[in-house]
Amino acid sequence: MKKISTGHALIFDSGVGGLSVVTEIIKLNPNLRLTYIADDNFRPYGEKTEFQLKNRLPRLLWELTETFKPDLAVIACNTASTTALEEIRGVLSIPVIGVVPAIKPAATLSRTKTIAVLGTPGTVKRRYVDELINEHASDCRFILQGSVNLVDIAEKKMIGEKINKEWIKTEITPMFSGQYGADIDAVVLACTHFPLLLEELKSSVNQTVSWIDSGDAVARRVLSIIQTLNLKPKKFETNKVFLIGPNACSNRFKAFKSYGFEKVTGLLLD
Ligand code: DGL
Repeated sequence: MKKISTGHALIFDSGVGGLSVVTEIIKLNPNLRLTYIADDNFRPYGEKTEFQLKNRLPRLLWELTETFKPDLAVIACNTASTTALEEIRGVLSIPVIGVVPAIKPAATLSRTKTIAVLGTPGTVKRRYVDELINEHASDCRFILQGSVNLVDIAEKKMIGEKINKEWIKTEITPMFSGQYGADIDAVVLACTHFPLLLEELKSSVNQTVSWIDSGDAVARRVLSIIQTLNLKPKKFETNKVFLIGPNACSNRFKAFKSYGFEKVTGLLLD
């Protein structure tokens, strides 16, 4: 039987982080065709200013959607979404789904009402996160922790490099050793790279915590938007990855292949 696709989504991140979202999207949307873009040229986003991201992302996403003609775009990056979602939506004529920290589910789940948000240094500083907290979790105490090294560690893992558990411990120990650290019972993984390190994170912590990300909620949102678009089924084209940058190499091909992508290509845009 010939495989068909219903819908085409552009998945965008600074690197491999979006794969943690892809896992969930595929579970709920097996017939969705995916084009994955990794902005290697500009990673890490977590160290960039709001101005730099607002300046780059709307133009870049416009160019990408003109090139690949998707039915919808998923900004599979908390840093990009909490900084420039509105501006990206402003220039695209297709639905745009952002990935933002799962503050509300964490607040519902936490019994101690003490929650850590582990994101990039950029995300944990954004007003967007303060607004989510004020709106959905004003009865909770928050410990905000930014890490840029965890992004790099996840990238290393995905090219098959060995990960040292001590590196992970160094990044997350400050959240648990502070005044309210022992009370933390939920950690929001507010960067899409971090669920890729879930096993390593779990084994680096000595207390019981729930690790919460936004992948499943995003996948449900994708499904509901696809349903409203009433798209005609098409012959299935393979899922592809494009890496932005002059040095884009396909040493992550194995990782992408294990998520169902069949081709990795460099893309020169700047
Ligand atoms: N994966 C991205 C996020 O969710 C950011 C990684 C980076 O700093 O480039 O925030």
